[in-house]
Amino acid sequence: MKIISSPKEMKAFSASARAEGKKIALVPTMGALHHGHLSLIKLAREKADVVVVSIFVNPTQFGPNEDFDKYPRQLEADINNCRECGADAVFTPSVSDIYAPDASTYVVEEQISKELCGKSRPKHFRGVTTVVTILFNIVKPDIAVFGEKDAQQISIIERMVRDLFMDVEIVRAPIVRDENGLALSSRNKYMDKLERIGAARIHRALEATKKMVEEENCRNVDRVKAFVINNIANAKARVIYAEVVDAKTSLPVSELDPGKCRVSVAVWYGQTRLIDNILI
Ligand code: PAJ
Repeated sequence: MKIISSPKEMKAFSASARAEGKKIALVPTMGALHHGHLSLIKLAREKADVVVVSIFVNPTQFGPNEDFDKYPRQLEADINNCRECGADAVFTPSVSDIYAPDASTYVVEEQISKELCGKSRPKHFRGVTTVVTILFNIVKPDIAVFGEKDAQQISIIERMVRDLFMDVEIVRAPIVRDENGLALSSRNKYMDKLERIGAARIHRALEATKKMVEEENCRNVDRVKAFVINNIANAKARVIYAEVVDAKTSLPVSELDPGKCRVSVAVWYGQTRLIDNILI
């Protein structure tokens, strides 16, 4: 497995794979890899000849008071995990490799990005679409794998790829959870064991909501939102939003259409911001 930090070298690696007629998959990550990330790498391994994992904590997607500085970084363990999952290359650029000091160009999706997480993290998705475009331009993958844990993020990337005629197929991977149901996240490292057990309540609330919708044949979005908020709220959990959205676009819907919707939530659990969602 190659470890590459220079964009120029990464481009050369991809160019030679392409010249050999190989299909390239990219799995973009910010590192601190867990089994959720690893499931994406394994899926990429099944779908392509060459698998590239990028590890880059992207400063432009963090707000000024967010956790960029304390975001977990564990490159050595990540590299070992990538190797074990059969990656062919790990791309680990530095911030100055990716952004010129006077970089002034952004890629902005202007509809989906304004909803859900976009309301409390105003420039977050601009940072995501910009860095994902940069990574696509460097690696030039045939496919790129993203997790449904960040359902809004995938919807925005699919929209960007469609709108800008980018030559990459976006592959969705299901959410991976711990034994208590908590969706795996690099930010779970901010919580101790007891907090992680408590935070699994978020998933239980989503499951209870799904059950309620099915049993009551409920189509009322306000009822669903109130139900999920009531089920999550406790001393430690503060709901940032709970929305019923279209499963494909992540845009809020006015009526629940079974099989085509997702309930998405963001929660402050103590000092940790968590997101989760469930298909309904
Ligand atoms: P990061 O949070 O590291 O996540 C990288 C990828 O792993 C994303 O596609 C995310 O949806 C997926 N993922 C995270 N937790 C998961 C879980 N429990 N189950 C399944 N997939 C999971 O998302 C980002 O990084 C960044 O925004 C990035 C796209 C890399 C741009 O900087």
